[in-house]
Amino acid sequence: MWILEKFVINGGKRLCGSVRISGAKNAAVAILPAILLTNEPCTIENLPEISDVTTIIRTLSILGAEVKVINKSTVRIDPRNVRSYTVSKEMAECMRASSYFLGALLGRMNNASVAPPGGCDFGVRPIDQHIKGFEALGAKVTIENGMVEARAERLSGSSIYLDVVSVGATINIMLAATRARGLTVIENAAREPHIVDLANFLNSMGANIMGAGTSIIKIRGVENLHGTTYSIIPDQIEAGTYMLAAAATMGDVTIENVTPKHLESIIAKLNEVGAKIEEFDEAVRVSMNTRPKRCNVKTMPHPGFPTDMQPQMATLLAIADGTSIITEGVWDSRFRYVDQLTLMGAQIKVDGKMAVITGVANLRPAPVKAVDLRAGAAMIIAGLMAEGTTEVTDILHIDRGYENIAEKLASLGADIKRAPIISDEVVLKEA
Ligand code: EPU
Repeated sequence: MWILEKFVINGGKRLCGSVRISGAKNAAVAILPAILLTNEPCTIENLPEISDVTTIIRTLSILGAEVKVINKSTVRIDPRNVRSYTVSKEMAECMRASSYFLGALLGRMNNASVAPPGGCDFGVRPIDQHIKGFEALGAKVTIENGMVEARAERLSGSSIYLDVVSVGATINIMLAATRARGLTVIENAAREPHIVDLANFLNSMGANIMGAGTSIIKIRGVENLHGTTYSIIPDQIEAGTYMLAAAATMGDVTIENVTPKHLESIIAKLNEVGAKIEEFDEAVRVSMNTRPKRCNVKTMPHPGFPTDMQPQMATLLAIADGTSIITEGVWDSRFRYVDQLTLMGAQIKVDGKMAVITGVANLRPAPVKAVDLRAGAAMIIAGLMAEGTTEVTDILHIDRGYENIAEKLASLGADIKRAPIISDEVVLKEA
């Protein structure tokens, strides 16, 4: 039986203390499918306990992999019996990263049949650059009966220039090219930390990938990969979310198990609004004791300010002294959450890819929805800021990407609880 849940937040409390960041969602959802490129078991550590990871592991298991859970953040996956190359609509539509099964299965058996990916709704989310990459490697890609079908006799290395800097296309091409014949060069590649993490994982299995983290990645194909044990990097966006929550509640929080280098653009903006930041080897401390100053933010591919921090930043700027402008530089439509924030008293006008935020002194509590994953995190931050009771519904989006968010925030002094939605009698029976 599925029971819908909500977060109930009694806001107005400063967050203080320390919080430990989990493994990176967007690295985990690339590394897990990459296991299909070997026939030997792999042990993956520091996996975040989130529903996107559960979905990917379930998909691997449906494909025929043997999954052994070692502890809450470690799994051992043995892909040797994977014979199927089909990922159904039911599994694919849960998340965007299901598209990585195209590259991984193509790399494993020159054949992939994967339903179009789901994920957060930011307007159009094409996969033309992924397909362009597969075709350059020699695959034929068609859409048949609602499935993306990719087939090749044998993949051969090639030069691929990405027309847009795409995380997904960069990852998918790396997956398909790792065991292709010869050299593949990806130009205008994405440079996100999770791309470097995937390259490190593949190299630890015997792949030959150079340049990850720069805009030119070179992949020299190898015949076979072997099993490995690998620990996933800390989640840059989870860390950034707690950093902004600390600032937004005038708190003082040490965020542990992070890579400060991955947080530079977020630290720069927090400095600009007046927060105090201390950096340690694997931690950052964020404290704030004045109303945030206004600032402008433009989201960009890494190392720019991450689009996945945009809703949380807008929430902080909603109480800034003055008018701020946020320009979304990655997605066509990532301001759907603004209507929810205005229910809480924020003054935000959206014009296309730009939001003009006129700071107000306080937000007020209201029932709001998590319209997508990061928007949901923003609603939680707004609830923590507003004195009184805010209820956030549609939290399954938040559970896709934040491990134990209510428990972690409560350990910092927040009054936040997960509660079943009983009042509307919304209890869905499993089909
Ligand atoms: N794009 C194309 N064609 C393509 C692929 C992308 O035009 O073939 C465009 C997109 O429409 C978008 C831009 O390129 O305008 C960037 O898209 P990208 O492919 O980089 O995004 P993604 O791989 O689908 C990942 C993250 C997102 C994050 C973006 C940008 C994963 C699983 N998802 O998505 O994360 O917003 O990169 O950094 O890694 C999240 O975690 O909340 C999330 C949405």
